[in-house]
Amino acid sequence: MTAAVADPVLREVRWQDLAGLAELEEELFGPEAWSLRSWWGELAGRPRREYVLLEDDAGIAGYAGIDHVGDVADVMTIAVLPRRRGSGLGRRLLEELVARARAAGSLRLVLEVREDNVPARRLYEDRGFAHVRTRTHYYPDGVDARVLALDLTEEP
Ligand SMILES: CC(C)(COP(=O)(O)OP(=O)(O)OC[C@H]1O[C@@H](n2cnc3c(N)ncnc32)[C@H](O)[C@@H]1OP(=O)(O)O)[C@@H](O)C(=O)NCCC(=O)NCCS
Repeated sequence: MTAAVADPVLREVRWQDLAGLAELEEELFGPEAWSLRSWWGELAGRPRREYVLLEDDAGIAGYAGIDHVGDVADVMTIAVLPRRRGSGLGRRLLEELVARARAAGSLRLVLEVREDNVPARRLYEDRGFAHVRTRTHYYPDGVDARVLALDLTEEP
């Protein structure tokens, strides 16, 4: 199959997408993958939770989600398929979450990232996320999590 040339379109995740997303999770997150049951719970959490995906003729290219809690929003997930990485899709998904956090009136956007996840850390740090604290041995394999936050009050 030839690669799609048009920019993927961003849209809300729908119930019909969940089986496909649960399959992609396995490929993307291995033992930390969300099951189909978890995905159902996440989508049932709307409107507090919001999930979006990027899609084109080749299918789903990436997805992301956010949780709005009072004046803080949390990044729940952000992922781009391995073969679609390195072309700005991760940044586009992150910008969408930032925009949604701002639209909901959040003052901070917070997330956890594995200490050893260099691409994700760079994505966030380049966007202005700052290190807040470290949660030691946070992940099942013992790797630490870095808690990062973006101060939305300083956004233009
Ligand atoms: C993190 C992830 C979403 C980035 O997606 P992507 O589409 O490849 O990212 P982009 O092409 O938009 O790149 C944006 C920035 O991210 C950083 N980045 C992306 N890939 C990188 C890599 N392999 N090494 C270092 N930095 C990288 C860079 O700062 C890049 O900016 P630049 O292109 O100007 O250098 C993707 O690697 C992914 O899905 N990883 C697996 C899931 C995951 O770890 N999610 C995050 C959980 S906290």
